[in-house]
Amino acid sequence: MFVSIIKEISMGHRLYNSKLSNRQNYALYGKCSNPNGHGHNYVIELTVKGEVDARTGMVLSLDSIKSIFNREITEKFDHKFLNYDLKEFKNTVPTSENIAKLMWEKLENKFSPAELHRILIKESRSSYFEYFGG
Ligand code: NI
Repeated sequence: MFVSIIKEISMGHRLYNSKLSNRQNYALYGKCSNPNGHGHNYVIELTVKGEVDARTGMVLSLDSIKSIFNREITEKFDHKFLNYDLKEFKNTVPTSENIAKLMWEKLENKFSPAELHRILIKESRSSYFEYFGG
């Protein structure tokens, strides 16, 4: 059984690789490399996978999934400027791909006896990124 929650969080970032010139960064990331950064209202979907507990009729309660998400993701990421506020992005470009991988690391093994199955990140209405670990 797969159970998902959907949350919106706001984060700022600049897509910029310090090993490249400004011109190379612009060629790679376009306006997302603008020096003063920009923000998004990201929609995050979190999916856990597990067996339905015969006693409760649930995999995990939605409240417990939401509270783990709040503790591991919202409190650490919401209203942060990722390049400066999160040490993990000091030397890593905060693309949606890398955000998904970092969120996976924060959430992996937190849903026992269920397990983390998928992180989906929508940065805009026209695209999304999914990570299944590994
Ligand atoms: Ni952006």
